[in-house]
Amino acid sequence: MIAAHITLLVGLYQWLLGRYGLISKGLPEGTNIMKDKFYRFFLVEHPTGMIISIILITLGYGMAKKQVSDETKFKKAFWYFTFALLVILITVPWPFRQIVGRPLFPGVHS
Ligand code: HEM
Repeated sequence: MIAAHITLLVGLYQWLLGRYGLISKGLPEGTNIMKDKFYRFFLVEHPTGMIISIILITLGYGMAKKQVSDETKFKKAFWYFTFALLVILITVPWPFRQIVGRPLFPGVHS
């Protein structure tokens, strides 16, 4: 829960003020975010997916406070966390992804 929210803050910072940030004007002249696969991924798809998963993590965590049986709590929380993990795995810029892939160990050259 804490990790998810810290990552959200770091992500929001990168999204608005990072090197391709919406406010920091990092985009080259004439870039159409939705037409360019790279910018669409980092500025739209990745943030959307990650924010959805952080919402799911928050909802799953909130289950613990509900006045229902432990079994129901754990079952519901399990599914919230499972879907959150799935969305995270889908929207991470894995090294094998075309165009948006990032290295697992940046700066380490073979
Ligand atoms: C569970 C949450 C998140 C995870 C696991 C995650 C993961 C990552 C990873 C692995 C990278 C590539 C880093 C690299 O260069 O090696 C990245 C980049 C980026 N993320 Fe996220 N992220 C998350 C949430 C967010 C959110 C919520 C936003 C925006 C609101 C965001 C915006 C960005 C942006 C703009 C970049 C590109 C930054 C750059 O290369 O300058 N991320 N993220």
